[in-house]
Amino acid sequence: MKRRRVIQVGTGARGVAYRDAVAFDFPDSVELVGLCDANPGRLSLYQEELRARGREVPGVFPDGLEALIRKQQADLVLVTSMDSTHDEYVIRALRAGCDVICEKPLTTTAEKLKMILVAIRETGRTVRVTFNMRYSPVRMQVKRLLQEGIIGRVRSVEFRWLLNIRHGADYFRRWHRNKANSGGLLVHKATHHFDAVNWWIQDVPVRVSATGARVFYTPEQAERYGLTRRGERCRGCLEARRCPFFLDLEQHADLRRMYLEQEGYDGYFRDRCIFSSAIDIEDTVAAAIEYRSGVRMSYGLTAFCPTEGYEIAFNGTKGRLEHGARESSSVFGGGEAPGEVHGLTLRVWPHFGKPFAVTPEESAGSHGGGDVRLMRDLFRADPGPDPLGLRADWRAGAWSILTGIAANTAIRDNRVVSIEELVPDLPLPDYPPAPAWDAPISLPADSTSTSTS
Ligand SMILES: NC(=O)c1ccc[n+]([C@@H]2O[C@H](COP(=O)([O-])OP(=O)(O)OC[C@H]3O[C@@H](n4cnc5c(N)ncnc54)[C@H](O)[C@@H]3O)[C@@H](O)[C@H]2O)c1
Repeated sequence: MKRRRVIQVGTGARGVAYRDAVAFDFPDSVELVGLCDANPGRLSLYQEELRARGREVPGVFPDGLEALIRKQQADLVLVTSMDSTHDEYVIRALRAGCDVICEKPLTTTAEKLKMILVAIRETGRTVRVTFNMRYSPVRMQVKRLLQEGIIGRVRSVEFRWLLNIRHGADYFRRWHRNKANSGGLLVHKATHHFDAVNWWIQDVPVRVSATGARVFYTPEQAERYGLTRRGERCRGCLEARRCPFFLDLEQHADLRRMYLEQEGYDGYFRDRCIFSSAIDIEDTVAAAIEYRSGVRMSYGLTAFCPTEGYEIAFNGTKGRLEHGARESSSVFGGGEAPGEVHGLTLRVWPHFGKPFAVTPEESAGSHGGGDVRLMRDLFRADPGPDPLGLRADWRAGAWSILTGIAANTAIRDNRVVSIEELVPDLPLPDYPPAPAWDAPISLPADSTSTSTS
């Protein structure tokens, strides 16, 4: 099999896992032949770290990407840059003759998505979107249970995601704090959640209503704490000693090298004040989503909780499946494994029978053990069959962001938003067959013993 020649765009914290996977872990199938980033310091840092491990990889600034693709005869571009720049690199890579692997979210607005769709259609090349959430064993287990029809056909979903004040706050320090960069948490973060639901229930959204606001990471909350002498950022802030959200970039070797020492190039401060009035993303949202098959979902995301994790319940034609997890929280890029899961729960409630627990499949490692499995599936020479439909292409990438983009529009305009008005005629993702969903349901022999009345 021909080795793929890969150029990576975006040399930040998340990109490290991809860089190392491509450069070192799958030598039979992929080779890292180039790097690209707008920040010369972070670009050099990646190159130095690769050099220290015996790899010399050329790097360019954004305007040199096409020349590097030609020179290195690259055939695959890996996009791990800031969310709002994904569209540009996906399109440029496709038009330069490459396939693309893009970190979630595929992009941040419907307009950008439409331009990506045109480039895909005109070039006929592939774009894969990486959803590590799907690859966590317990989420695959939920997929299998639903697929087998354990609760019949899903008719409604309740989904609640909690970010704690450590992890949640971190989105309000960085570029994520502005919708122009990230699409807000409804796109940047919830693309994982909406993708997982689309994949679990094998459906796509049609209409979205939502409400949301920034109610905690506000100047008013800082005043409640008596933090009155705040600066633009933690570094040099007069409240540094009292503020529980103070982030000392000097004290984190990884954050210092990746951000503090490179900020002179582009003014990207990793430690901006989380109470700033310049923030324009929500920290609490509630959305109601209607799916093509008639499923209704209520979804909530809160980013200022004392605990971190999620709870989801699927209500089907035969019963209810509940799943939950606590997640570890981290300051992203600060050297801790993000999103490790623990305290997993998985329970099935049949309509006419006793509820029972299913032993959840535990897994260690970042993002619920999803990262390591995702990298293997992306880059190993023979990834094998895909019975659960884990591999997401641009269609799944597009559908996953459209729920959040529609919710953003719903919040802004105070109305129900249809997906069709944002992007008409979007093809459906490929889902595995699920014949068990509509199989006849046997009633219990003695219905009086299970009567709920
Ligand atoms: N799946 C996951 O679990 C997960 C976790 C974290 C981040 N991510 C995704 O990874 C991507 C990177 O996030 P991160 O946390 O590494 O952020 P980061 O800030 O550490 O890195 C972003 C990089 O993009 C570069 N960049 C910004 N504008 C650019 C431009 N115009 N051209 C080229 N490069 C540009 C920055 O210089 C920086 O090096 C994002 O898309 C994010 O959503 C995914």
